[in-house]
Amino acid sequence: MWLTGLLAAAVVLTAPRWLPARVVALRAKMFEKVNGDNAITFPNAVVGPDRFQEVYGHPAANGRSRGAGLSDLFWYWLSPGPEVHQEHLEAGPRYDDVARTTRALLAGPGDELSALAARCAGRVLDERVTGRVTLVRLRDLMMPVWAEYFHELVFGEPCPRKARDLIVGHADDVVTSLKCTGLRHPARRARLTRYLARRVAAGDVRRPLPASLSPTEQVHYLQGTFFNTGVVQMSEAMAHVLLALAQHPEAAARLARDDRYFGHVLDETMRLYPLFGIAHRIATAEIALDERTTLPAGSVLCFSYPDYHATGYARPDVFDPDRWDHVGAREAHHIPFGVAANRPCPAWRLSPLALRAATREVLRRVTLHSTVTHTRSMPSRGPCLLVRVDQPLPPGRLAVLGALLRVRDRWEDVWRSVVQLVLGTVMVLHAHRLRLAGRYFDTHDTQGRPLRHRPPSPQEITE
Ligand code: HEM
Repeated sequence: MWLTGLLAAAVVLTAPRWLPARVVALRAKMFEKVNGDNAITFPNAVVGPDRFQEVYGHPAANGRSRGAGLSDLFWYWLSPGPEVHQEHLEAGPRYDDVARTTRALLAGPGDELSALAARCAGRVLDERVTGRVTLVRLRDLMMPVWAEYFHELVFGEPCPRKARDLIVGHADDVVTSLKCTGLRHPARRARLTRYLARRVAAGDVRRPLPASLSPTEQVHYLQGTFFNTGVVQMSEAMAHVLLALAQHPEAAARLARDDRYFGHVLDETMRLYPLFGIAHRIATAEIALDERTTLPAGSVLCFSYPDYHATGYARPDVFDPDRWDHVGAREAHHIPFGVAANRPCPAWRLSPLALRAATREVLRRVTLHSTVTHTRSMPSRGPCLLVRVDQPLPPGRLAVLGALLRVRDRWEDVWRSVVQLVLGTVMVLHAHRLRLAGRYFDTHDTQGRPLRHRPPSPQEITE
């Protein structure tokens, strides 16, 4: 009896060491199953890192949603309006129209884009960081910054507090469900849709919206691209940069002395913690790799960013921004914003500028300290201590706080990984039942036109 008790205690007490990794592996298996048998992940033994970008940029690697089991899951997480989210639109005039609008809204003089980021970051930090020491989750701290930023970019005016809450509520709900740490809340998302619908109807958007979309689709486009993807990606990127700086004080010190070092810090952070784990495409025609190997049309091509970014570097697991003193980002295995030949991120120019300006505002106010595990998907949202630069803490006190943070983080990891497994399974099954992408393409073509289900009349045939 006592032996069983002892064993049970050992299992529980050692859980932080072995359970999270096991659960992550189980989840990966589950997502593999969703991908189905026609999914291929690169780089692999046939297509090594040297040919990774060639396949990614192949003209036939251009399907986005139709024909992949994975699409039902992404559409489920990105609702409402996944069918007009730029990332998931199929190539064609509708995609071109949407991509043009996104480019127009993200364009602007670099100094204005940076100044806006500095203003938004400064405002939120002054509101949230009031004491000598503040314990935050970095992603949560950053969400209101980028909510304000994209509101101003889209509507050309400062973001009212109520709108900020709606945007943060929506973006947080999407990313929480994507990481399987919580379920979706469609009502929360719908509140933002109603706000945006009012603004679109009033003609408040700074640039013309895609004319090929209906008014409802235009609202969903704004909601998906700017108030979900824009806010989430910038908050996550910023959380990674700040957590890396918190754990590498030598890099933070060099950055404080020399602002130009930010480029290296961002490159290294995005190399080790790319925002995309896997980006996928569906082959719309055969892709011949060599005389013996052809990828059939309909293959789901999964491009693994972490695997690709880990090749071609000495000590790839080490966070070392100084490596970029010698490595040129162009020739390196480094695609933080995707590949130029195949739908790269439209915010590739704006993001580094805005992130740099916001990081500067943070470092002007606080030093960062964190002992938590830093992983690419960062389900913990980056717990971190912010200490005001003008009121430093004695090292002993920092060490105690750091130890407490570490213990809390390891135990949170245990329950969180179980929660992720359970909620992930629930959502995969729910998405499979709803079959949002599959049902859409049962009734629409790739340009969103309804398919005809009745046979054409003889008159229509002769017309
Ligand atoms: C540091 C910040 C960001 C990073 C690292 C990042 C990364 C990426 C990557 C790797 C892709 C390509 C994925 C693929 O090949 O399927 C992508 C696509 C995209 N990103 Fe970003 N992104 C960032 C910020 C943003 C922001 C701020 C926005 C919007 C305001 C945005 C909107 C998009 C859209 C719409 C696409 C799809 C492009 C298309 O299919 O035409 N991203 N991003």
